[in-house]
Amino acid sequence: MTKPGKFTVHNTDGKARRATLSTAHGDIQTPIFMPVGTQGTVKSLTPLDLEEMDAQIILGNTYHLYLRPGDELVARRGGLHKFSNWKRPILTDSGGFQVFSLQGIRKLSEEGVEFRSYLNGSKHFFSPEKAIDIQKNLGSDIMMVLDECVGYGNDRKYTEKSLEMTTRWAQRCRDHYPKGSGEQLMFGIVQGGFHKDLREKSLYQLRKIDFEGFAIGGLSVGESTEEMYDILHHIAPKMPEKKPRYLMGVGTPLDILEGVSAGVDMFDCVLPSRNARNGTLFTSMGKINIKRAEFTEDDSPLDPNCNCYTCRNFTKAYLRHLYQAKELLSYRLNTYHNLYFYLDLMKQIRAAIENGTFNELKAHYETAYAK
Ligand code: GUN
Ligand code: ZN
Repeated sequence: MTKPGKFTVHNTDGKARRATLSTAHGDIQTPIFMPVGTQGTVKSLTPLDLEEMDAQIILGNTYHLYLRPGDELVARRGGLHKFSNWKRPILTDSGGFQVFSLQGIRKLSEEGVEFRSYLNGSKHFFSPEKAIDIQKNLGSDIMMVLDECVGYGNDRKYTEKSLEMTTRWAQRCRDHYPKGSGEQLMFGIVQGGFHKDLREKSLYQLRKIDFEGFAIGGLSVGESTEEMYDILHHIAPKMPEKKPRYLMGVGTPLDILEGVSAGVDMFDCVLPSRNARNGTLFTSMGKINIKRAEFTEDDSPLDPNCNCYTCRNFTKAYLRHLYQAKELLSYRLNTYHNLYFYLDLMKQIRAAIENGTFNELKAHYETAYAK
């Protein structure tokens, strides 16, 4: 087995990189999209489905799994891989984002963050050390530091204070799990809102702490696409070249192409799976909504260019019917297609970087997905 954390860049095309990241559960070919499996499952799919569509790594959430079924219960069953029977790599988010974005009720201090359970309102506390202990119990391949995701519209003073605390939290996370003390990797998270100098400050501080990878947090929090791309292009190229770069919670197919063009290697987002459940499907010709009346008697496949199980076997008329009838199979077939589409897009991106044709691929999707 290659040493977890080894990161090898094979090709570049502009700033886009084609690389391999080694983890305890195998290698990840980047650029990669990570399907979101918040509760230890990618909603409606089995591990076999995910393997079939070549998902290389999935994401789990510290916040949800700590509250239910409990990270200690998972640890007693040998960790999240064994518990969920997913044998490939897992990345766990730290809970920072979930506590800040999902919960109104929270108390923030230097020590950590107090929050209430979304399940029963009970009180809980995450310190940076606690967030790491939970992720150790879950046994993820990549752990994220506890951070504060500053929402859109906070002023500069607040954002600066916050990023400095995020740095101190990051140092505490690393101290609690020094490099090489186990097979799990730890990524730092760059914050700093929409101020370029604060983003640089955050990155500069985090670089002094020895992480195996670096993420960009605090984007896709209500800003315009232009603002997001502006920060992305400013900070991504400044992140360590020899470490993986991860853009958290982003995004649309065009956002991913933009991220890759700025030098990002890893992405996650609920968009393909969540959209699938409300009938919004990504195709090679753009986005469609399967509930529309125009598909009532449309016997063509969802996407004639897609090779997924859904597109090979079912018509739009049938998928529309399942959606209207709120049949469970609707969630499953739609999710299967959307994630297949995203993973196939990443495959095309990796091939294009290898062939030096990334810009053509990006332009192609920009046309298909033009608003
Ligand atoms: N997911 C999306 N954005 C963020 C962020 O800023 N921090 C964390 N921890 N997770 C995220
Ligand atoms: Zn398909």
